[in-house]
Amino acid sequence: VGQNLVTLKEADSTNNYLKELLSNSKPVADGTVIMAESQYAGRGQQQNKWNSEPGKNLTFSVLLKPSFLPLQQQFYLTQTISLGVVTAMQQVTGLPIQIKWPNDIYYGDKKLGGILIENMVQGSGIKNSVVGIGLNINQEVFPDWVPNPASVKQILHKDYELSALLLQICGSIEAWYLKLKAGRLDEIHRQYLANLYWLNQERDFMSDGVAFKGRITGVRNTGFLVLSTESGEKEFNLKQIVFLNK
Ligand code: BTN
Repeated sequence: VGQNLVTLKEADSTNNYLKELLSNSKPVADGTVIMAESQYAGRGQQQNKWNSEPGKNLTFSVLLKPSFLPLQQQFYLTQTISLGVVTAMQQVTGLPIQIKWPNDIYYGDKKLGGILIENMVQGSGIKNSVVGIGLNINQEVFPDWVPNPASVKQILHKDYELSALLLQICGSIEAWYLKLKAGRLDEIHRQYLANLYWLNQERDFMSDGVAFKGRITGVRNTGFLVLSTESGEKEFNLKQIVFLNK
């Protein structure tokens, strides 16, 4: 991962750029990384925009070809990438950075980064996976419309060199990806849970506009979040649940 690295001054979105490369019929190597200093149409999950001040943060996309992974095990790719990013960020910063289900990067109750995975399916497998990663590193001020952001700079008051950080994260993603390839699924799942924000804590959630108390007890292989609530165990997908902070 990152052996083949393309650095752009500007792109609409590195995910879009990589997807266009793939549709241009020339082969693109597994592990190719597209990084942009600035994105003018950065995308987040659920149709959100992704804000990133030019030159201050990491915005990049990784091409993976997880053809060995059955479609029903897609969520293991999400767990693998999340672990790759979070463990690298922990090592570099020394901070107890966590994964907010399914794949946000959190420090305390603040969002440091996010991941947008777009899979191209062929038959019963994933042919290409475009893994977009945005991490707030050196940005000091965020626009008001961005929900609870934080950057490493705001926490540690120092700047990080982006190219060195990118290489570390790529190395870490590769290490976790090799575990996925080797079929070490239980280990990946255990480590994902070990780094999960709000695991086993009594917290407030909202579903269908109704607030309730619950405790995250696990995550299914399908990616569903499992909560223990007053009315028993319940499962949710991303659209069905909101985490409520005090
Ligand atoms: C989210 O938390 O909603 C996911 C954010 C993903 C942002 C990254 S930045 C690089 C790549 N290109 C994009 O347009 N989005 C992803």
